[in-house]
Amino acid sequence: MAGPILLASARLDYRRLEAGDVGARYVAWMNDPEVVKFLESRYQRQSEADVRDFVARQAAREDTLFLGIFLRDGGSHIGNVKLSPIVRRHARAELGILIGERDVWGRGYASEAIAAVAAYGFSDLKLGKITAGCYGSNRGSRVAFEKAGFSIEGTRLAQYELDGVWDDECLLGLLAPARRTGMSLR
Ligand SMILES: CC(C)(COP(=O)(O)OP(=O)(O)OC[C@H]1O[C@@H](n2cnc3c(N)ncnc32)[C@H](O)[C@@H]1OP(=O)(O)O)[C@@H](O)C(=O)NCCC(=O)NCCS
Repeated sequence: MAGPILLASARLDYRRLEAGDVGARYVAWMNDPEVVKFLESRYQRQSEADVRDFVARQAAREDTLFLGIFLRDGGSHIGNVKLSPIVRRHARAELGILIGERDVWGRGYASEAIAAVAAYGFSDLKLGKITAGCYGSNRGSRVAFEKAGFSIEGTRLAQYELDGVWDDECLLGLLAPARRTGMSLR
């Protein structure tokens, strides 16, 4: 059973995930070619034990906040979002997102989750910057980050192999208001 709600946004609740939360639906996401099309995990089929092991490793990391995303209405687990690594020295973290339930794509859940977790990172974790990266062809991901306020900071050309062609990496970032001036460290 999932732990207590750590964070809530308009339509979504977020809880820390543990290995015991991994069920058949989650394992199916990780073996769905459409879901993993832009993820490095696509190169290897994932068993339930693999996914449980992945979740356990994330949960054990001190530099990681790994959350399940749950619909408030009905409580289904629809995806995951993480801040990892959290780099205290630079008050910065990398944000990754997965909406595994394809039926709910395009409803603004990724944008909502990205904005909520970035705001939590700024307010509760005292971060000053959140970064993210996505395949250049991953329009859904790029637009979701932009809708959550992120800006494109750069492009790494031909960074990835994707279905036999080279794809760029889009680098995104969001600064906390206090860090935008660039005048002080906090
Ligand atoms: C990419 C992903 C996070 C988007 O989630 P989502 O909840 O559908 O995103 P949102 O509803 O917030 O929509 C973001 C925008 O992208 C569009 N979009 C979503 N999926 C899309 C797709 N596959 N192709 C084109 N556009 C897409 C949405 O319509 C929306 O644009 P709009 O405001 O112009 O309508 C989700 O498809 C996903 O998890 N994919 C698999 C894993 C992945 O690629 N994660 C990101 C790794 S960087």
